[in-house]
Amino acid sequence: MSFDVWSSAVWQNLVAQAKLPLNLRQEFAADPARAERFTLEACGITLDYSKNLITTGIWQNLLQLAEASPLAQKRQQMFAGDKINTSENRSVWHTALRAPLGGDLTLDGVDISAEISQCHAQMYDLVNQLNAQTYLGYTGQVITDLIWIGIGGSLLGPQMAAEALTPYNISPVKIHFAGNIDGAVVSDVVKPLDPATTLVFVASKSFGTEETKQNALAVRQWFIDNGADKAAIARHFWATSSNIKAAAEFGIESSNILPMWDWVGGRYSLWSAIGFPLCLMLGVSQFNQLLAGAHAMDQHFLEAPLAQNMPVILALLGVWYINGLGCQAQALLPYSHYLRLLPSYVQQLDMESNGKSVNIDGDALTEATAPVIWGDAGTNGQHAYHQLLHQSALAIPADFILPIKPAHDLQDHHLRLAAHCFAQTQALMQGKTLAEATAEVKATGASDEQAAILAPHKVSPGNKPSNTLLLPELSPFYLGALIALYEHKVFVQGVLWDINSFDQWGVELGKQLSTPIYQVLSGQQQHGFDASTEQLIARFSR
Ligand code: F6P
Repeated sequence: MSFDVWSSAVWQNLVAQAKLPLNLRQEFAADPARAERFTLEACGITLDYSKNLITTGIWQNLLQLAEASPLAQKRQQMFAGDKINTSENRSVWHTALRAPLGGDLTLDGVDISAEISQCHAQMYDLVNQLNAQTYLGYTGQVITDLIWIGIGGSLLGPQMAAEALTPYNISPVKIHFAGNIDGAVVSDVVKPLDPATTLVFVASKSFGTEETKQNALAVRQWFIDNGADKAAIARHFWATSSNIKAAAEFGIESSNILPMWDWVGGRYSLWSAIGFPLCLMLGVSQFNQLLAGAHAMDQHFLEAPLAQNMPVILALLGVWYINGLGCQAQALLPYSHYLRLLPSYVQQLDMESNGKSVNIDGDALTEATAPVIWGDAGTNGQHAYHQLLHQSALAIPADFILPIKPAHDLQDHHLRLAAHCFAQTQALMQGKTLAEATAEVKATGASDEQAAILAPHKVSPGNKPSNTLLLPELSPFYLGALIALYEHKVFVQGVLWDINSFDQWGVELGKQLSTPIYQVLSGQQQHGFDASTEQLIARFSR
């Protein structure tokens, strides 16, 4: 019998508290210790969660909810490699990929520690050859470029982290990512390249994803069109996949296939050979720092009491906003140009994991689950959608993320960036009252009448919640810890919502329906769709 959050007494208590007024300005004024009490440091990352719509009472209840849930048990199961992805009968063991190797990691009688070590050895060997420029292409030239073909979890992680860690790039090999089936992507990627100096990685756990296969075929054709023969292609094409057979059928040599495992979900696969581009650009030792940061967050998540457990805190706040206060969106606002792809990455992590309509037993859910995750790097957003955050009727909790030490020498830029980050959280929290707006307008010399007309437009309701996360710097270690923080937040929420966060059956329907439509578009089959789809096909095809 699963734990039912919504019928628990503690949740009923929270529902009652959700109806009471709460004014953050007043909470801060009444309680000088609030900021300190609602701030936590873990793995070097600071989380200030004091600007959230919580009182001490609400917070205690939320912690009690986590306490009463099967979180401790499920967390243990995940870290032990139990098959908690029940609809696919799979373990969820991405944490094993960043644990120190040599420990007891056995799954279904197989020593996975040895398998991971072997995979690392293969990765490191190729990385070292490419970075030392000793891996030569079919004409004997040095490899200068790598095309990484994949989509979803096989692309978003390495692409986001490669951007994030740009200042740590030590590789002479330039990495290009190709995901979308829009032919513009792969055409643009190959345009400036030379096949003789390009290595290709086909990254697909299933080796059955249409976009990846189609892009891989296009790149292979580009090689052939440029005079590459079978042996040349064998030298230049690598894969990371759990479907060795399909990769081999595509023409990839078995020695060029890095493993992916059934027990690692796509959106959690950054730590496997899907992280190859990172290992290449960072070198082995900094890649290990990325893993070490994630492992440090794993240990924190496993060991810290719930009240001091950063992923648990973020998860509880999310549940409070979604289910207690009816918020449907969550903004992710990195104040770091290099972290600008983080929102897209967390979008998949959170929305593909927890955007579900049934619980783990297949019964319909009565409450909403994952929020709509969106955002971009600050300060760009301030000149775009922050207007809505500040003044619209919508309440959108926001996570602000700021590295303390910049990765450049423009110190004054960084002080200004930080000032904007902090000012945004302050403005969202305190807003501007009508009295303040009126005084402001009158200070410009306006009359009472003019002030009465203009001041209402300047009012900001405030009371808009946010978290602020400070990283000492955007290094591989802290990035690893930050990613693992969001992974575990999503996990905790999945437990509280009693859902399977590790399958994604909803994605399948669109995939299934695209096949017959493609057949019609390419002239292979009779029509027979709904009138709208028929009409779109007709207009597209005329
Ligand atoms: O979009 C669905 C999905 O299955 C993701 O979960 C996964 O990360 C992505 O497709 C790519 O899958 P694959 O690595 O098998 O090509």
